[in-house]
Amino acid sequence: MCGIVGYLGKQNATGILLEGLKRLEYRGYDSSGLAVLDSGGLEVTKRVGRVKELLAAVKKSPSQAKMGICHTRWATHGGVTEENAHPHLSSDGKISLVLNGVIENYNPIRKFLTSKGYTFYSETDTEVLCNLIAYHYAKEIDSPSDGGTRFSQSVRKALHHVEGTYGLAALCADCPDEMVGARHGSPLILGVGNDEMLLASDVSALVSRTPNVVYLNDGELVHIRGNNFTISTHESEDVQPVINTVDWDVSEGEIGDFDHFMLKEIFEQPEALENAMRGRFSQDQSTAKFGGLNVTPQELRQIDRILLCACGTAWHACLTIEFLIEKYARIPVEVEYASEFRYRNAPLDKNTLVLVVSQSGETIDTLAALKESKRKGYTTLAITNGVGSTIARESDGGIYQHAGPEIGVASTKAFTSQLVIGAMLALYLGRLRDLSFNEGAEMVIGLKEVPDLVRKIVQQSEHIHTIAKKYVHKQDFLFLGRLSMFPIALEGALKLKEISYIHAEGYPAAEMKHGPIALISEDCPSVFIATEPDTVSKVISNMQEVKARKGQLIIVRSESCEMPDGLADDEVVIPDCHPAVAPILACIPVQLLSYYIAVERGCDVDKPRNLAKSVTVE
Ligand code: F6R
Repeated sequence: MCGIVGYLGKQNATGILLEGLKRLEYRGYDSSGLAVLDSGGLEVTKRVGRVKELLAAVKKSPSQAKMGICHTRWATHGGVTEENAHPHLSSDGKISLVLNGVIENYNPIRKFLTSKGYTFYSETDTEVLCNLIAYHYAKEIDSPSDGGTRFSQSVRKALHHVEGTYGLAALCADCPDEMVGARHGSPLILGVGNDEMLLASDVSALVSRTPNVVYLNDGELVHIRGNNFTISTHESEDVQPVINTVDWDVSEGEIGDFDHFMLKEIFEQPEALENAMRGRFSQDQSTAKFGGLNVTPQELRQIDRILLCACGTAWHACLTIEFLIEKYARIPVEVEYASEFRYRNAPLDKNTLVLVVSQSGETIDTLAALKESKRKGYTTLAITNGVGSTIARESDGGIYQHAGPEIGVASTKAFTSQLVIGAMLALYLGRLRDLSFNEGAEMVIGLKEVPDLVRKIVQQSEHIHTIAKKYVHKQDFLFLGRLSMFPIALEGALKLKEISYIHAEGYPAAEMKHGPIALISEDCPSVFIATEPDTVSKVISNMQEVKARKGQLIIVRSESCEMPDGLADDEVVIPDCHPAVAPILACIPVQLLSYYIAVERGCDVDKPRNLAKSVTVE
């Protein structure tokens, strides 16, 4: 939530900052702002709405400043107003601050600062921290003993008094060649360029300037002075920086000829799936292999239980992975919402492996669940798309998705890539136990076929678009599926509600008659997902129950799951495949259906209201 960018260099800062900010818009997009510093002092511009509103505003009075900070907001404290937008300026005009996170004890600090004469113009916790830095700056001496400057020391001192999470960047009106950043719980990355330094919440905002980045750790502060930087802990201990080179193709984050990133990412799934599998099958083609697990086969054989933790769509991926691991590796699996697990103090068996799943690798609840598991001494692994993300760095080992940047707020290609990795993991764990060579080899063949099968399904997009047009005005939907199709039903319902604001629920198909059937009417269509010949006759009975109550039926089925004539109002047929990969195929039509319904309703598909892609606050 919220994206921040900072720049200090020799070029005009405004264009560089706003280009970076546009790439972070997926993190929040209700308002944005920019502060630049030059000989005329700090100049702050803010606007409610998208970054393009800010761009239009700064064009009217261009600045020559060579340093600045900017922010795109997803509101936590205070409504969506210009006053609440960042950057904030301290009431003495000395400090400007952008922050991603939440300062939990802002209230007593605000009272204290008010008693000292500081004035507040917004409802935000960030303005409180901004003034707290100004308060320490006013008290601080010019050459503090820690080797920093009056400005860096004032940020450090202020941070000693705050509780909560933050990734921040600050400027001081008196310091034309200094910028300070700090992180605790929310990501912050330093970009080390040619004659320029950048700070950002995410590498995507700075890779067009430099591939050289330092991932700050929690409790670290970076002090940039001209072309130099130092990193230290909040306790002033020096940290030796590790400069990583990011391998990131900037064009991957461009929309190209597509109307929306979401559609582009749906169509990119064949390549994303290929990338997730590339180089990850054994030479004898009977199992998977992963380079970064950091757990030996012997250790994995000792595992009695696996705990899967995630949020949102990634949690749906976990439900599918649970099904796959239990079926193919016969290891008991539990799936937890990360946000619940972190506070639940759940008893775990001692031989439990904890696996977290996160596209961004920055979701705060998932990170907290990971940390809590590590604290208790469990081995932790992560499936993530976020190379160098906090979750990737904090876990003992893991599997990168290599799905490429996912910009659309609604997750699509990251989800199916998690499913393919889940299937490969189930295969690998299965082959360490009782899965035979032949069963393994069949699964490898099935996995390798997936990208081409997905290509065939996306070719049906115009057919699915036509179906979508018929249902645009419905206000309620049910998504129903059994066994491994239940998580896909949940995911279909989530996709529809988040991008088209239609109420939708996902249920195991047979559960419908225990309650949700009461919703069925001409106005509440049901999307059934049926790919398993073993249970298809049962699912057909559930469909008949809907039909008998005048409910419309949109059926996503595999070729071999034949339906009685006239049952479906609309139908999407997907190819038969290995059962381990059926959830991946079945997901594509529900993604497209949701996408086209949202488009037909005129919704902002890539930036749905109230949502942010990376949820780095609780
Ligand atoms: C929905 C969606 C969210 C995320 C959730 C977790 O389309 O994208 O539900 O899945 O916020 O995010 P990650 O996977 O980044 O941890």
